[in-house]
Amino acid sequence: MKANFIINEVDYCVNLLNFPADITLNTFIREHAQLTATKYMCLEGGCGACICVIRGKHPVTGKLRTWAANSCLTLLNSLVNMEITTSEGIGNKRIGYHPIQKMLAKLDGSQCGFCSPGFVMNMYGLLEAKEGKVTTEEVENSFGGNLCRCTGYRPILEAMKSFAADNTYDMLLDIEELNGKSCKKAGNKCPALQQKPLSRLIYEDESQWFWPKTFEELFDDLSKVRDNEFMFVGGNTAHGVYRRNENIKSFIDINAIRELKTYHIDNEHLTLGANLSLTETMHIFKEAAQRPGFEYCEQLWKHFDLIANVPVRNNGTLAGNISTKKAYMEFTSDVFIIFETLNVQLICYECANKPQVMGLLEYLKLPSKKLLIATFSLQSFPKERYIFQSYKILPRAQNSHAYVNAGFLLEMELETGLVHSARICYGGIRPDFVHATTVEAMVIGQNLFDRETLAKIFHELSIIIQPNDVLPNASPEYRKKLACGLFYKLILNLVPAELVKPEYKSGGELLVRPISSGSQTYEIKKKNFPVNQPVEKLEAIIQCAGEATYMNDTLTTNNSLYCAFVGATRVGAKIVNIDAKEALKMLGVVAFFSAQDIPGRNTFVNERFQWFIPEEIFCSDIVQFYNQPLGLIVAITHDIAHRATTRVRVTYTNIQNQPPKLSLKQILSDNHKIETNVETKTISNIKAGTITAKGIFEMGSQYHFTMEPQTTIAIPFEERLQISSSTQWMDHTQCVIAEMLNIKVNSVQFVVRRLGGGYGAKISRCNQVACAAALAAYKLNRPVRFVQTIESMMNCNGKRWACLSDYEFHASLNGKILSLRNNFYEDAGCSLNENPINLLTNISTLNCYELTSNYQYNGQAVVTDAPSATWCRAPGSTEGIAMTENIMEHIAFETKLDAVSVRLANINPTNKMAQLLPRFIKSIEYHTRKAEIDDFNKRNRWVKCGLGISVMQFNLIFFGQFSATVSIYHCDGTVTISHAGIEMGQGINTKVAQVAAYILGIPLELVNIEATNTVNGANAMSTLSSFGSESLCYAVRKSCNVLNDRLKPVKDSLAKNSTWQQIVATAWQRSINLIASENYKQGDMQNYYIYGLACTEMKVDLLTGNHLIKRVDILEDTGESLNPRIDVGQIEGAFVMGLGYWLTEKLVYNRQTGELLTNRTWNYKPPGAKDIPIDFRIELLQSIPNENGFMRSKATGEPAFCLAVSSIFALQHALQSARDDAGHRKEYIRLGAPTTPEDIVLAAGHEVDMFTLN
Ligand SMILES: Cc1cc2nc3c(=O)[nH]c(=O)nc-3n(C[C@H](O)[C@H](O)[C@H](O)COP(=O)(O)OP(=O)(O)OC[C@H]3O[C@@H](n4cnc5c(N)ncnc54)[C@H](O)[C@@H]3O)c2cc1C
Ligand code: FES
Ligand code: FES
Repeated sequence: MKANFIINEVDYCVNLLNFPADITLNTFIREHAQLTATKYMCLEGGCGACICVIRGKHPVTGKLRTWAANSCLTLLNSLVNMEITTSEGIGNKRIGYHPIQKMLAKLDGSQCGFCSPGFVMNMYGLLEAKEGKVTTEEVENSFGGNLCRCTGYRPILEAMKSFAADNTYDMLLDIEELNGKSCKKAGNKCPALQQKPLSRLIYEDESQWFWPKTFEELFDDLSKVRDNEFMFVGGNTAHGVYRRNENIKSFIDINAIRELKTYHIDNEHLTLGANLSLTETMHIFKEAAQRPGFEYCEQLWKHFDLIANVPVRNNGTLAGNISTKKAYMEFTSDVFIIFETLNVQLICYECANKPQVMGLLEYLKLPSKKLLIATFSLQSFPKERYIFQSYKILPRAQNSHAYVNAGFLLEMELETGLVHSARICYGGIRPDFVHATTVEAMVIGQNLFDRETLAKIFHELSIIIQPNDVLPNASPEYRKKLACGLFYKLILNLVPAELVKPEYKSGGELLVRPISSGSQTYEIKKKNFPVNQPVEKLEAIIQCAGEATYMNDTLTTNNSLYCAFVGATRVGAKIVNIDAKEALKMLGVVAFFSAQDIPGRNTFVNERFQWFIPEEIFCSDIVQFYNQPLGLIVAITHDIAHRATTRVRVTYTNIQNQPPKLSLKQILSDNHKIETNVETKTISNIKAGTITAKGIFEMGSQYHFTMEPQTTIAIPFEERLQISSSTQWMDHTQCVIAEMLNIKVNSVQFVVRRLGGGYGAKISRCNQVACAAALAAYKLNRPVRFVQTIESMMNCNGKRWACLSDYEFHASLNGKILSLRNNFYEDAGCSLNENPINLLTNISTLNCYELTSNYQYNGQAVVTDAPSATWCRAPGSTEGIAMTENIMEHIAFETKLDAVSVRLANINPTNKMAQLLPRFIKSIEYHTRKAEIDDFNKRNRWVKCGLGISVMQFNLIFFGQFSATVSIYHCDGTVTISHAGIEMGQGINTKVAQVAAYILGIPLELVNIEATNTVNGANAMSTLSSFGSESLCYAVRKSCNVLNDRLKPVKDSLAKNSTWQQIVATAWQRSINLIASENYKQGDMQNYYIYGLACTEMKVDLLTGNHLIKRVDILEDTGESLNPRIDVGQIEGAFVMGLGYWLTEKLVYNRQTGELLTNRTWNYKPPGAKDIPIDFRIELLQSIPNENGFMRSKATGEPAFCLAVSSIFALQHALQSARDDAGHRKEYIRLGAPTTPEDIVLAAGHEVDMFTLN
């Protein structure tokens, strides 16, 4: 059956029967249309890498409308006759780039670039949907569904906000260009709309797809489904929350049914078609809020604005949401909680002419699966009589489901507080708990502002709210406090000012985040331009346009295969048999491989390389952690490969009764024997006039969260394997593949164009996927693609080394450390590979302080039942610096001194920090701001502020070797460089090109950088730590110097004013070699320190635990920055990734099985665009040249990560005030990584009985 789609103005006429019924738009675009600008990562609507723009006719109005959508969730069959635009379609090198692409590049919003096309398309969709008229606020609010791990969002938001009508950015030209592009399209007739509508498709595998246009047709189709599993296809976004049942073979697309997409409003009721999208519903709420009785719709709009993210809301529908709640009662549906609070009635049908009217709770209990929801009916609630409020408290600012959500509808007299009726609803407590029924009854006839009534309410609430304890959800204790706190928040909001203590009143508001902004201050030295010149990243524009290629964009022949790991599930048990028969029977499954199929060594790391002992590619014996790969399914599609993994049966013996060892805290508290050389010493010789204290400081692990998944494409080529792998270390990956296959190393050739983020995830962990793909390609002699899913990456791959510090100090009253003991433990996971303790952590614990004979530190790696930990941005240094910074804060707390004076008391006056810290403190007006905050905290009981400082002396250690080949083309003098470093967003290619241009004395435009490969880049060290750019610049300078030496006689022999092109052409005629290859080797540059300081100001809502990062100042010593724009980007990005580590990113395991429970975007939360500092000020300290660094510069990739610990010191400051108010004894609170909203509320020290008015 032929169907038409238009993609980027090209007509695709396809036979749908050639594809699976549930093929997504993303798969079609990438694999069949072979348009690779649209990326993917999470496949669940949580990251935004896959966003496209769709245009089609509205079924009711008939008007063309445009919206951004997640192509990973959108099913191709629901797009028949629609027009799809991808990043390639709006601008490219042929037709010219689109202003959004240009602006994003121009303002440095693209580092690794993997997220960039998604951001561009989300903005394009927003502008198209709003006909170009957007405000700054709307723009800033619209990127909750786009994650970026590199930039820290500030430059992206600035680029996007420049398109707002109220922007202040000077970009008139671009706006005009933009309008030109939009107008050209607006109102155009979509040429595809000619085709006759489809009604039904029956596939070979018995799947069916229906396109009913009316209720009658729909129920007729439903009858054809019989008792088989089916779904009504709204937006298919629920698949992003709960994976669709694999048995669903019948799809009834209900998007063309007018009744489901319409709405009606009169004086009494607002009736919403059940499959209105959440975005459409929000527009209707705005309209309805203007009518008497429906003012509450304004609050509905605000609440819906916190559901999912813009593209998900554009496709996801009301009924899809409520129906998901019906299927999964534990789902904290926001639509449900607020509709139930408002006593919304729905109409549903089991057959075409039998409407049933009921409330939502009744609907949820109905057993029938074949119920179609047709409408939702909202009644009017005159604002004179009714108060409606709703809350959704989430772990980060946007794009997350709620910890707890709540809706309150009170019929009451505001002046007297008298309540006539109440609906009090909560989500996130227990699947069976919705209404606080006893409280609803209790408040009737009572004065809500009466002291005793309130006490009774909170007493009752704390009895009836008994949250369940189901991981990975937040603790019952937090959710209970939060739920009660939300009702208290409502009361504080409503109560007349004269009845409440003034300092309580601010607790009634939610924190309001203003539009964010930033400043970047640096000196520019023109002497060595283009070195030191703030030039745009070379690949920025192609990245923003989606033209830049990543490993998965490598095109292969259409017989390529796809892979998925099969994981072991019994930690500590021994595998005795693996039976893949059932999996192999599945249509489309081609092979299963396990350890016994490996011709050579079963290890993906190799002892030849520093820091490694073998780790199995496929587990062959004792299972070391939950989901350890034990085999590989190879199939004709990605989906089939994944489905087949569940059909592999594994038999184990020696099943363990003990739960796995999962965390340092658990191991230490359970007194498990640790193989340790740590002696627990105590501090003696305590003199009068001094203080001692002890503490524990815990830092969890962190998932790298690269936007580009672990990817390898292995292609058999002649007698070799051609590998495109997202590796930071080709040499290692090449070696392990050769050893695994028992073939020569030169039979495995690599090309790495760029990575979509690394941060350490692709130093060694990438090798497992690479080996698996290579094995399959080798065995089957077919191209093989292995792109790990987010679940698989999070389950199988090692993460940051978690760390626990057990310390004790003895200090004089001025804060000077007399002695300090720090025993710390780092979580190695299942092997000691990549142990950072000796190389990185130990030395970092000294930071910039005078700690010599008075300091004992003992670091110990602890083996646990988790994937082997790996390096993650600023490994070891983050933990080392944070441990000592925490001790400084603790000393300040015990001595009652300011944390800055304690730091100064411990810094040797000759250390550079002794000058930098006072200068920084002065420039940021630290003391004035701190005094203002202390005053604010006295005047506010439930909202607190805090200021936190951190300082850093980061050790930059060089090691390894890197080569670089520079070739000059005699025809036009252009230059190409192929170097051994891996570009992964850090700007290595740009810096290298700047250096080549400077040394050769040619314009930057003449220099190109080719992909890294194992010919020119053989034997190179991994691009890791922060030294890659400098090392490669060094190698390139050496090569260029060789070329200059060769060219000098030619130059001298020509006229003085000869051009570069003339010199090069003459050299060629004289048979001079215009290719030079040199390398950087260990010892060519000396290690050095990088200094940095940060101050973070935060505002915290104690009732919810949510916070705003009001302002961050960073001063970082970058020597003479090679490229200040790139370096600012590295600093901002590293700091924001650090904020994620300290504030939101939590890994939760099943304590019995060892399974990771937070392995998706749904439950693991790196920072989003509205989690970054509101006022983000970066200054590069450039006046001090670095004699050890390359051309006096310093590295910037990692250090700023270490400064983000200042955020938890700001929280400590805020929480100390909260605990004083709560009447607690003074004690230094144990905050660690992460300190989530849950930890904040629990540390704040209040109890529900403190929820009073005065
Ligand atoms: C990343 C992400 C974040 C999210 N965050 C939130 C959040 O914070 N809060 C929240 O509440 N929700 C959240 N959601 C859920 C989202 O609101 C739902 O996925 C969406 O509303 C489902 O609508 P849909 O049309 O896509 O449903 P579909 O996926 O198309 O269908 C889902 C189910 O609904 C059934 N269905 C569809 N229409 C009807 C109908 N008319 N009658 C009966 N059954 C029907 C289908 O048969 C199917 O079983 C999130 C989703 C994603 C992907
Ligand atoms: S891949 Fe679609 S949102 Fe992540
Ligand atoms: S630039 Fe955004 S993820 Fe790398």
